[in-house]
Amino acid sequence: MPKILCVVGARPNFMKLAPIYLKLKRDNDFNPVIVHTGQHYDYEMSQVFFEDLELPEPDHFLDVGSGSHAEQTGRIMIEFEKVLLKELPDLVMVFGDVNSTLSCSLAAKKLNIPVAHVEAGLRSFDETMPEEINRRLTDSISDLLFTPSRDGDDNLMKEGISKENTYFVGNIMIDSLVKVLGNIDEMYEKEMLVRHGLSAKEYALVTLHRPSNVDRKENLIRIIDFLGGLSGDLKILFPVHPRTSKNIQAFGLAETAGKIDILEPLRYKEFIVLLKNAKFVLTDSGGIQEETTYLDVPCLTLRNNTERPVTLTQGTNELVDMDNIGGKVKLILEGRWKRTRIPEFWDGGVSGRICSVLNDKWGAGAASISNVCQ
Ligand code: UD1
Repeated sequence: MPKILCVVGARPNFMKLAPIYLKLKRDNDFNPVIVHTGQHYDYEMSQVFFEDLELPEPDHFLDVGSGSHAEQTGRIMIEFEKVLLKELPDLVMVFGDVNSTLSCSLAAKKLNIPVAHVEAGLRSFDETMPEEINRRLTDSISDLLFTPSRDGDDNLMKEGISKENTYFVGNIMIDSLVKVLGNIDEMYEKEMLVRHGLSAKEYALVTLHRPSNVDRKENLIRIIDFLGGLSGDLKILFPVHPRTSKNIQAFGLAETAGKIDILEPLRYKEFIVLLKNAKFVLTDSGGIQEETTYLDVPCLTLRNNTERPVTLTQGTNELVDMDNIGGKVKLILEGRWKRTRIPEFWDGGVSGRICSVLNDKWGAGAASISNVCQ
């Protein structure tokens, strides 16, 4: 049975792995093996997601931890190469745009092992973002490219990446979202709102972790001040990423932040309940722009650009800065916000589409994947 090494490293990868891994396992046409690089290592950033997403323990844990980009990227390559040489997989599957995505595709290609990239083709056109470098380079060496939206196909074509290897399959995050929504009943939903002292649609949910927002002291001060001011009108819930938490302490902002409900990172299911019931969301994450579009919850993205433009054109998302954010919040509170149109193939069927591409290319009797992918 062909062996597929599925690589994850950071929190947003886990929801993308789960639907594909579980389907590959169920269908039993391939042998999927999980490699976790350990880029995220805290229990609540990593293990808890494996539990909630019904994933087994990873087959390989590389324990690379944090470091500068070069250190982290280099360490992952060194450790992942050892796994490749031991497992000799037929295909390496990578997800999203984190450092693990690039490092592992590069290590695999150097050993002539084909690479499939799930969530290919997204572009912010902002090379100051490490994720943009990871996306471009990973796509440029991938053999199979699975795109979440049509803009992804257009971007790849403009970069001269073969159309033959590109498959528009839809958004894999939504597969996990559809599944978890099916497991949330009214009682669980009520229990979560009560636990956090919330009423539906009477609070805002905030997640911020990008270096541009949280590593610069003056920017983080402005954000925390704004949220503190808003907390007079609306309850603010802010589950903090470790990067943000460290900086709130380091910049001496703990007192101002006291007006906001600052929490540890939340479990997936709990987070989705709070997302679904929020009046609006303020974020700089990629995946949350998509989840709010699916859930028809207004989303303010505190960035200059997004690699997910379909959330702007069809969804509930808008880009904001600290100068116009107050006006946007007012519009939302007055009930004057756009409604969503769920993008094509954001339907829970993405893992099925990916598996059927793999089967078509490589099902019983087909040539080995290395030949197919050339
Ligand atoms: C990474 C991804 C980003 C993704 C984000 C989601 C890259 C370049 N960035 O950014 O695309 O949106 O994950 O969360 O791959 N830390 C902990 N515990 C952990 C993990 C990290 O304390 O479990 C600390 C690290 O020590 C570091 C900081 O958080 O100080 C940032 O972690 P890192 O993995 O470098 O990048 P993220 O900001 O999480």
